[in-house]
Amino acid sequence: MKMGRFEGFYLSVVLNSFLLFCHGGTTSRYVRRLEATADMPLDSDVFCVPPGCNAPQQVLHITQGDLEGKALIVSWVTQKARGSNLVLYWKEHSNKMLKAHGKSKKYNFYNYTVSDFVVLFLQYDTKYYYMVGVGQTERTFWFLTPPKPGPDVPYTVGLIGELGQSFDSNITLTHYENNPLKGQTILFVGDFSYADTYPNHDNNRWDIWGRFVERSTAYQPWIWTVGNHELDFAPRLLTLIVLQGETKPFQPFKHRYRTPHRSSGSTEPFWYSIKRGPAYIIVLASYSAYGKYTPQYMWLEQEFPKVNKTETPWLIVLMHSTWYNSYDYHYMEGETMRAMYELWFIKNKVDVIFAGHVHGERSECISNIAYNLVNGICSPVKDLSAPVYITIGDGGNLEGLSTIMTEPQPKYSAFRDASFGHAISSIKNRTHTYYGWHRNQDGCAVDGDTMWFFNRFWHPIDDSPDDDS
Ligand SMILES: *[C@@H]1O[C@H](CO)[C@@H](O)[C@H](O)[C@H]1NC(C)=O
Ligand SMILES: *[C@@H]1O[C@H](CO)[C@@H](O)[C@H](O)[C@H]1NC(C)=O
Ligand SMILES: *[C@@H]1O[C@H](CO)[C@@H](O)[C@H](O)[C@H]1NC(C)=O
Ligand SMILES: *[C@@H]1O[C@H](CO)[C@@H](O)[C@H](O)[C@H]1NC(C)=O
Repeated sequence: MKMGRFEGFYLSVVLNSFLLFCHGGTTSRYVRRLEATADMPLDSDVFCVPPGCNAPQQVLHITQGDLEGKALIVSWVTQKARGSNLVLYWKEHSNKMLKAHGKSKKYNFYNYTVSDFVVLFLQYDTKYYYMVGVGQTERTFWFLTPPKPGPDVPYTVGLIGELGQSFDSNITLTHYENNPLKGQTILFVGDFSYADTYPNHDNNRWDIWGRFVERSTAYQPWIWTVGNHELDFAPRLLTLIVLQGETKPFQPFKHRYRTPHRSSGSTEPFWYSIKRGPAYIIVLASYSAYGKYTPQYMWLEQEFPKVNKTETPWLIVLMHSTWYNSYDYHYMEGETMRAMYELWFIKNKVDVIFAGHVHGERSECISNIAYNLVNGICSPVKDLSAPVYITIGDGGNLEGLSTIMTEPQPKYSAFRDASFGHAISSIKNRTHTYYGWHRNQDGCAVDGDTMWFFNRFWHPIDDSPDDDS
């Protein structure tokens, strides 16, 4: 079954290379050690419970709380008893203490029960401090709010996917933190803790992951996309003789990680939009229905006309299951969503799609919109009105590296490397964005792959560095 598919694809690629392109992309020659990736042991430093009675933990993950970037959602967990739900926050150099009260939500999963969250209302471009655990074990953190949306406000985002909780995950996060380009927020393309790979989806692994990433998520917002490891659909779990299955998908994600979906008119937390500085970011859900007439489809159709390229020139889409992938693993899993939405992306001048599910790859500017069942034109072609697809599912999870690639490298693939890493995208102004991918084995400032993006609306010229013809 697998071989048949592989051969068919190979053939189409060979034809394609004669007809459509003069030369292909780059497969990195980097030779990496192929060791198994192991999760960090439970007593690792990064998993420590913070000291103090019932101290708020996993705190603090923060994410944007509205459409425009003037609100922030703070979430945390207190494990023993319900702690204080009060959050105090204040602007730098200000004595005026602001207060917000959190709401608490519990959920059951197998034999696991837990969390608190609160929305803070803020001003643009300001440093705030905030305190949780008030009156018991107080913990104070800080964050910076984004600039008011506008076409020429520079903004730098980090990109991480499939992080997990292995030794490699820790190296990826450390590299991101030490990158001199200093990302101001993370666009996270899905697959968080991999709790679902443990017996009974051990939900303590969600807590442990929350403590591991707190050193970043408490200080800068992470914009969440759901991946397949957030599904947590497990109808057949048994305790002794009682069926304790979980028949509703996404329960741990929904309770632990909130998104500002309502402010963009979405009915579910899995798909939503935010503006952040010069960017309009649309988050899609690969594992919720997206066919015609579904809630996600109807929402997305109404979302594109809202994008004002004069206010937010950069239109970025996040999703988990990548559409253009030339690895053996998860090949063509994004195809049905591509068939539904690709034309919209082109018409509405999406600049770039960041996805996960497999490890590093960057596409050419390509589209496959000519394809229909009868014409047989099924190979993607270079298309300067189409976006670039970046696959960055290489955070370091315990499933290890996926290294088997389609050979020869298909022409739609500009660069690929099966190493762990992260990326940084620095939006400079309405026309230029600098993108760099960073391999974990290199120094923090070393780019393994780079590209200058030219804005599809303001500067629609060929930005593909591999096309020098
Ligand atoms: C994780 O990375 C941090 C920062 O580099 C380091 O202090 C810590 O010891 C690492 N922990 C493990 C278990 O690798
Ligand atoms: C949940 O089940 C696991 C194993 O199935 C067990 O180790 C753990 O102690 C249980 N937790 C609770 C709170 O019952
Ligand atoms: C688009 O944004 C610009 C700049 O903020 C504003 O002047 C203009 O009125 C907006 N256009 C629409 C159609 O809302
Ligand atoms: C936008 O940024 C690029 C890269 O830094 C620069 O070359 C270009 O001149 C800038 N454009 C404007 C209008 O400032």
